[in-house]
Amino acid sequence: MANVKFFYGKTAPLEMHKVRVVQKLNLPPVEERLEHIKEAGNNTFLLLNKDVYLDMLTDSGVNAMSDKQVASMLEADDSYAGSATYTKLENKIRELFHKEYFLPAHQGRACESILSQVFVKEGQIVPMNYHFTTTKAHIQLNGGIVEEIITKDGLNITSDEPFKGNMDIGLLENLIAKNGADKIAFVRLEAGTNLIGGQPISLKNMKEVRSVCDKHGIMLVMDSSLLADNLYFIKTREAEYKDKSIRELNKEISDLCDIIYFSARKLGHARGGGIITNSKDAYMKMRELITLYEGFLTYGGMSVREIEALAIGLEETMDEDMISQGPLFTQYMVEKLVEAGVPVVTPAGGLGCHVDAMAFLDHVPQNEYPAGALASAMYIASGIRGMERGTVSEERNPDGSDHYANMELLRLALPRRVFTMSQIDYAVDRLKWLYENRKLIGGLEFVEEPKLLRFFFGKLTAKGDWQNKLVAKYKEDFGDSL
Ligand code: F0G
Repeated sequence: MANVKFFYGKTAPLEMHKVRVVQKLNLPPVEERLEHIKEAGNNTFLLLNKDVYLDMLTDSGVNAMSDKQVASMLEADDSYAGSATYTKLENKIRELFHKEYFLPAHQGRACESILSQVFVKEGQIVPMNYHFTTTKAHIQLNGGIVEEIITKDGLNITSDEPFKGNMDIGLLENLIAKNGADKIAFVRLEAGTNLIGGQPISLKNMKEVRSVCDKHGIMLVMDSSLLADNLYFIKTREAEYKDKSIRELNKEISDLCDIIYFSARKLGHARGGGIITNSKDAYMKMRELITLYEGFLTYGGMSVREIEALAIGLEETMDEDMISQGPLFTQYMVEKLVEAGVPVVTPAGGLGCHVDAMAFLDHVPQNEYPAGALASAMYIASGIRGMERGTVSEERNPDGSDHYANMELLRLALPRRVFTMSQIDYAVDRLKWLYENRKLIGGLEFVEEPKLLRFFFGKLTAKGDWQNKLVAKYKEDFGDSL
């Protein structure tokens, strides 16, 4: 996207791409939407895509590919070992990240599993700016302890702080002083911090974390799944770096890290993942696990077609027009909602728009899962599928009580280059309507609850009759309109 000045005076984001392949969408009537969400146990993961109008569940594996990416897929060299396609990707990674070794994996969580198996010992701590669900699960599975040391601003829903993903350096120093450097498996930074609203880390903060790691001989690992958004935010929000190219910034970030891993379902607009390092020792330790769990070293569980597309997608990530699309669309949506008084995470991050369900539904207590209830209400009101990012996404405490999330968010992801402005306007409109009618929305309770990662498969039911009342009000206000 490019921010362009319009004749009527305002500056607005303008697409620097055009649509060449489309997919027909279906928007079922409101009564059917109610049935679908009930069948799905009020869990948007369990909806069928055929019943969804705008799929804002995630930006993972669903970003639009470029014509060049799609064309490259036809050239893929399909071989188990030594594929020319893999060499292309390896060379592109060496060029962009200036590191020697690359280990391919089928997606981001596979990288987390391997990193945790190799580098996390029983009782060791992994300090991080904030956790991601699968990251935390893998670290804990290997006996590790996650310590979140995000700056105070990170957990403030509304803020003017441009880098809410920053790590608190004082807390990091204290943690190391208290436990000793030996007790720290590695420090993990997450670019574009997912669970607090796609909020970036500044390059200045990354450098400060690096110097603490240097002082204590601790390894620095970066989860770069959302690096594209973070690169854009450094370029546009950190005055010191405004004249650097995205390519230069990418190299600077890479130079600070011992290990970079990523989900290529986000970074590079393909499907896969990988681990990048300059350390032969780290590479050798992880290599066998790749062949054991993922596949041979020249594909790591990815299809060669996706590898071709990834090599192109990573190169395209160096283009500011390309990586600005997500953040600028998100900003557009967030601004419209703020104008309407709907509570959302600010400033706008990458990834998508995050609605503050705790404020939106301040009459629904946290043990009745306000973010889950809002996700269900949003689907009923719009056919749009968002994702609960609150207490349902947490695991229970050892005593069986709910572990309340710091934030109760409804995430409306904006997969990159997928939606149009009128679709965003529709989403904003239905959210405004829901906000007007928020007192009609009630809570949820579990009827089926798996022990691990319950948000994927768990089923919930509405407490009381609020969903029927919401449908009745919708009919009253919108008549026969979809
Ligand atoms: N790290 C981050 C920051 C992520 O956002 C994700 C995935 C992963 C790791 C795991 O990668 O899915 O390829 O195994 N996030 C997706 C999401 C699932 O919807 O936010 P993966």
